[in-house]
Amino acid sequence: MADQAFISSTQTVPDLNRVPQHIAIIMDGNGRWARKRFLPRIAGHARGVEAVRGTIRAVIERGVEYLTLFAFSSENWRRPAEEVSYLMQLFIKSLQKEVRRLHENNIRFRVIGDRSRFEPVLVRAIEAAEELTAGSTRLHLTVAANYGGRWDVLTAVNRLLDRQPGRCKIDEEAVNAELSMNFAPEPDLFIRTGGEQRISNFLLWQLAYTEFFFTDALWPDFDGKVLDQAIASYQERERRFGRTSEQLITGVSEAERHA
Ligand code: IPE
Ligand code: IPE
Ligand code: MG
Repeated sequence: MADQAFISSTQTVPDLNRVPQHIAIIMDGNGRWARKRFLPRIAGHARGVEAVRGTIRAVIERGVEYLTLFAFSSENWRRPAEEVSYLMQLFIKSLQKEVRRLHENNIRFRVIGDRSRFEPVLVRAIEAAEELTAGSTRLHLTVAANYGGRWDVLTAVNRLLDRQPGRCKIDEEAVNAELSMNFAPEPDLFIRTGGEQRISNFLLWQLAYTEFFFTDALWPDFDGKVLDQAIASYQERERRFGRTSEQLITGVSEAERHA
């Protein structure tokens, strides 16, 4: 199953000169983008899909290996029914339209989140895309849909309990192995567009030591330039994972790196 994924990023110190290996993005601000133009909110979502396409291209050019996008939260069902329905249709259409291109570009596609509330046609489109791209290696593209960080952790724990009734101890490694992102290292860089500074129940467990970047840019306006700002900001950080600055300067031994 997962290999390097079990090495928590709270233990290893990645080289900051490198481009982040895993970027996770909350794509926010579609509605405001549309409102500014006196357009209906759904026009913003349609433009949001364009920004997704551009972002995939941009992260590949920069050598990012994992891109995880928050498309629909478990709380987004609270929106007006017409908007939810439009978003679901947009998801289906985009999948059907883009799946071949994902495959041709060697992109591995996955969806994380609770699929039980999706229409069968959407579930089938997701499964088909995941199957078609299962052997792709250039970029791991993951879309979080009907996803919630609390749901993810609870699902993992309940799965462990179901498998071993009466179990009374659960450790970090066991939970990691059951989480929906068990195939990936934890995100190095988290980006949220649209100006809000919150996690909104995204990857709660996996963001424990991720570097955060918030931008006022609205998602449809997100491009390579904003991405480069985020990466440049990331590369200026010092990821200490609890250690002191001095320890990092004098060098952490191989044994200490994993302590
Ligand atoms: C993000 O944009 C897209 C989804 C949550 C589906 P919003 O729709 O939240 O846009 P704002 O925040 O209202 O501008
Ligand atoms: C978060 O955006 C979820 C996605 C981008 C899919 P929202 O715009 O729904 O977040 P809140 O509810 O305002 O925090
Ligand atoms: Mg929003």
